[in-house]
Amino acid sequence: MRRPLIAGNWKMNGDAAEADALFRALAAVRPGGADLVVCPPFTALAAAQQSLSDTCIQWGAQNVYPAASGAYTGEISPAMLTSLGCRWCICGHSERRQLLGETDDFIRRKVRAVLDAGMMPILCVGETADERRGGRTASVVQREVEEGLRDAAADEAARLVVAYEPVWAIGAGQAATAAEAQEVCGWIRECLFRLFGQDAASSARILYGGSVGQGNIADFLSEPDIDGALIGGASLRADEFISIYDTAKA
Ligand code: PGA
Repeated sequence: MRRPLIAGNWKMNGDAAEADALFRALAAVRPGGADLVVCPPFTALAAAQQSLSDTCIQWGAQNVYPAASGAYTGEISPAMLTSLGCRWCICGHSERRQLLGETDDFIRRKVRAVLDAGMMPILCVGETADERRGGRTASVVQREVEEGLRDAAADEAARLVVAYEPVWAIGAGQAATAAEAQEVCGWIRECLFRLFGQDAASSARILYGGSVGQGNIADFLSEPDIDGALIGGASLRADEFISIYDTAKA
C-alpha cells in the first residue's frame, strides 16, 4: 500500500521571521500514517533543519542544479541540500518551466541528480488550459513523465513522486475535479508501468496539485491513483496545512 504524502510548496514566500513562525506552528503536528513534507525557499532550509529535526515533518527544496559543484553562479547543488537534511526536491514545477524556460531535458538531469544524492524527486507535470482545450492533455503529461524519468531505474521507483498539476488550476482557487485529476493520474500510472513495470508502477506515489485545500483534499485522496497532494497557497497557513495532513492520516 502506498503511504499518503502531503507536500507543501511555499514558492517565493516566507522571509526569515515568517519561516520561523510557520515552522514553529507546524511543529505541533502529530505523526500518523502519512508523510508530511515542506519545501520552503532555499533561504529557510537551515531554519527548517533546526526547527523540524525533532518532529515528524520532513523538508525539501523547490529546485536544484544538476552538478556537484563549480562555476554555476546563483545555483545550489544536491549535496548542499542534503547537508541541510533535505530529503526531497521539487523538479520541473510549471512556474519554472514557463517563467524560467526549463526544458524536459534539463528537468531529467535534475531528477537524476536528486536520485543520485539519495533524495526523492517530486516531478511536476501538467497541461496548460490551451493544451487541455486542444485535447492534448494526455500527450503533454505523458511526454513530461517519460522525459523527466528517462534516466531513472525501476528499482528507484519507490523514491519517485510524480505530481500532476494542471497549470490552469495552480493558484486559481479552482481545482480540477477529483474525477479529472484521477483520469490523468491513472494515465501517469500506466506510463510508469510502461517505463518501469508493475512493481514500480504500484509503488511510486502520484500527487495532485492545484488549488488544494482542506475543503477538497478528501475528494482527491478517495481516488485510487491519487496518493496525496502538492500544496502551494494552503501550505502557508499552518492550521489549514495541518488539517489537510490530518485528513490524509485518517
Ligand atoms: P496552489 O499551488 O496550491 O497554490 O494552487 C500548487 C503548486 O503550484 O504546487
